[in-house]
Amino acid sequence: MTRIVIEKAGNCSVRFLSKPEQLNEMGLSYVKSLFRPEYLETFLVPKPDGTSVLLVGIGHENTQDAHVAKELSAAACKAMRKLKIQAFTFYLSPFYAESSKDTMIAFFEGIFLVTGNAKTYKTDKCETSWTVGLADMPREYEQYLEEGRMLANHVLFVRDLVNMPANLLWPEKMAEEFVRFAQGTGIESKIIHMEELKKLKMGGLLGVGSSSAYPPCLLIMRYTGDAGTSDRTGLVGKGVTVDTGGYCIKSAASMAGIRGDMAGAAAVVGAISALDKQKAKVNVTAVLPLCENRISNGSMVDGDVLTSYSGKTIEVGDTDAEGRLILADAVTYAVRDENVSRVLDIATLTGAVVRMFGFTITGAISDNDIMWEEFSEAGRKTGERYWRIPFLREHERMLDSSVADICNLGPSECGTITGGLFIRSFAENVPWIHLDIAGTAWVKEPIYTYQEQYATGTGVETIYRWLSDRA
Ligand code: BES
Ligand code: ZN
Ligand code: ZN
Repeated sequence: MTRIVIEKAGNCSVRFLSKPEQLNEMGLSYVKSLFRPEYLETFLVPKPDGTSVLLVGIGHENTQDAHVAKELSAAACKAMRKLKIQAFTFYLSPFYAESSKDTMIAFFEGIFLVTGNAKTYKTDKCETSWTVGLADMPREYEQYLEEGRMLANHVLFVRDLVNMPANLLWPEKMAEEFVRFAQGTGIESKIIHMEELKKLKMGGLLGVGSSSAYPPCLLIMRYTGDAGTSDRTGLVGKGVTVDTGGYCIKSAASMAGIRGDMAGAAAVVGAISALDKQKAKVNVTAVLPLCENRISNGSMVDGDVLTSYSGKTIEVGDTDAEGRLILADAVTYAVRDENVSRVLDIATLTGAVVRMFGFTITGAISDNDIMWEEFSEAGRKTGERYWRIPFLREHERMLDSSVADICNLGPSECGTITGGLFIRSFAENVPWIHLDIAGTAWVKEPIYTYQEQYATGTGVETIYRWLSDRA
């Protein structure tokens, strides 16, 4: 539990500093030889009167950048967590007394992300309760504080889900959990079960999902915040609750973290729920194909030809390229059955994006400059990092098949581009953005201070910010 008080809390205060000279103003010049205010360095100074000051270095970073603000508040809270100090006060002045909305939302998020409790399966649950004071807080910050709290709670919810082991979270359970989660909100939801998927001829989702004893399903969540327009954004998220690779089975080493292959679907649920919480004036439909990619008698093998929901035939070149097969049907559903005006898909899609960008930049592909500009502006506001990857006609040709309309596997080059373009070929020319979060959804150890081990909850904030700013 994190309690926030807009006054002083506890005996410990937090102060940010970029120059050693600031120590003089704090009456702490004697600490100069012990602490250099490098970025994210922390140092606790105990005082004779029983109070203490946690110094947090800024270095040369721009404190108004959303990412930096989130890191700085998170660094303070992580230091407190280590020191077992559960009540303390941030002094917002001088760096955070006149900041913008986006900076402050990020700053507050950093506090809630670190002081929130992650779900575990330990029988002995020990939860820490925190009291965080905010001194010199301008009144208008209160709404930013609430928005930061709401967003952080959604990120934590998504992290918990993505971290859930595959034996405790299978496709229908996940769908039911989301439906329950959406009850009492403005989100309508429905689950299309296996029998119905067969009637609809969703060959992509069935091709992958029939590999498991846990049947696949398609979850639809519809939020209508602006009934006065037919404009609607489709959010399509990859929900593979476990990806063994199928018959093209993964190596033991690359099996780590495969329970996180539903991070795209989880991020979409987080974002749509956040939009609902803020009553954003937009219309959004989430289309989430949920399944497992395993091996069973009769599960797909290389060379199989699937007929997708769109009617297009797909040659299976690799059973481990399952994400695009299920996303193809979901994107078709979004465009044809939900009449979306644009579509964003988000997926842990390729190992190639991890080799390209590592674990901190999400690879993005888009065929629409305006849509991309809006989305990347939202990314700048939240501090999440997205980088657009180009594509050309020759990349599309890399997916040509001699036996079917398209192949789910290209040559070894350009894996992230061909993965994205496969999905685009089902978008029927509506403006489209693809986010490949294979690198950013999961970290073995935290890279940023506001992260924890494993699921990061990436995507939630920027998709939310993009759509709420569109409103
Ligand atoms: N879920 C994986 C991609 C992935 C890799 C996610 C690493 C997280 C970390 C995806 O289904 C996959 O296996 N992709 C293949 C595609 C290839 C066979 C064309 C890959 O990237 O190796
Ligand atoms: Zn795979
Ligand atoms: Zn996968």
